[in-house]
Amino acid sequence: MSKIEVRRLNFDFSANTEKYWFNQSVFKTHLFNSFTIFIPEIEKYLILNVKKRINFLDNPQLKQKAQAFICQEGQHSYQHTKFWNNLRASGYKFDTFIRWEQTILFDILERQMSLNFNLAIAAGIEHLTTLMAEFALETDLFAEAEPELKQLFEWHALEELEHKTVLYDVLQNATNNYLLRQVGMFVAHILILLFLNLGLAILLYQDRKLFDRKVWQEFIEFWLTKDKFLYKALFNARDYLRKDFHPSQNDNLYLIDRVKV
Ligand SMILES: [Fe+2]
Ligand SMILES: [Fe+2]
Repeated sequence: MSKIEVRRLNFDFSANTEKYWFNQSVFKTHLFNSFTIFIPEIEKYLILNVKKRINFLDNPQLKQKAQAFICQEGQHSYQHTKFWNNLRASGYKFDTFIRWEQTILFDILERQMSLNFNLAIAAGIEHLTTLMAEFALETDLFAEAEPELKQLFEWHALEELEHKTVLYDVLQNATNNYLLRQVGMFVAHILILLFLNLGLAILLYQDRKLFDRKVWQEFIEFWLTKDKFLYKALFNARDYLRKDFHPSQNDNLYLIDRVKV
């Protein structure tokens, strides 16, 4: 079983970071810039929901893991936000996008829906971020990216694998309602894919690259023809439908050793 280690990295992104830091790919740079923009609020949402439940956890081991989860996600959120200065310095504006995201996560879901439903969404989010982490480390996705950004994303990926079971177990501790778990997973996928692609479109538009042929070619390659990430996400979601599913069943913890932090 993997230990959840809270590492306190301190990123200080150079002002001279390449504009297209992902191997000169406009598409991949903005895809992961979009991730960097929307993920901090998602992580705050996960933390908030775990905090609401943590005092009711009767399993001391799970409680300890939930605490480590909160610390890890807090660090991810904080360190990704630091790159916002670089993005703003390059002229990108995304405050309205963040406010829109906050309205959905906190004003609508958090305030209007039950804690169990929010935990089901949170567990579904973790199911998808675990796949992203596995994909990134398995394919050495960031091999050609600028070293600071490579380190940021690989450190994040490794910790996503380390804590992949926590939210699922917190949800199961609160309720083992199968239908709720599936609806939560469905909503989680809609949210993540929506925020990721909307952020991408906003950045491409501001960069005057929204109608660039190469960008769309890479977009199709990533989601459908080469990396096939959309299909991977669908197969990953299918696993979650199994009644006896548990995140520990997918043997991907060996990938943790591939990352040097
Ligand atoms: Fe995270
Ligand atoms: Fe996570």
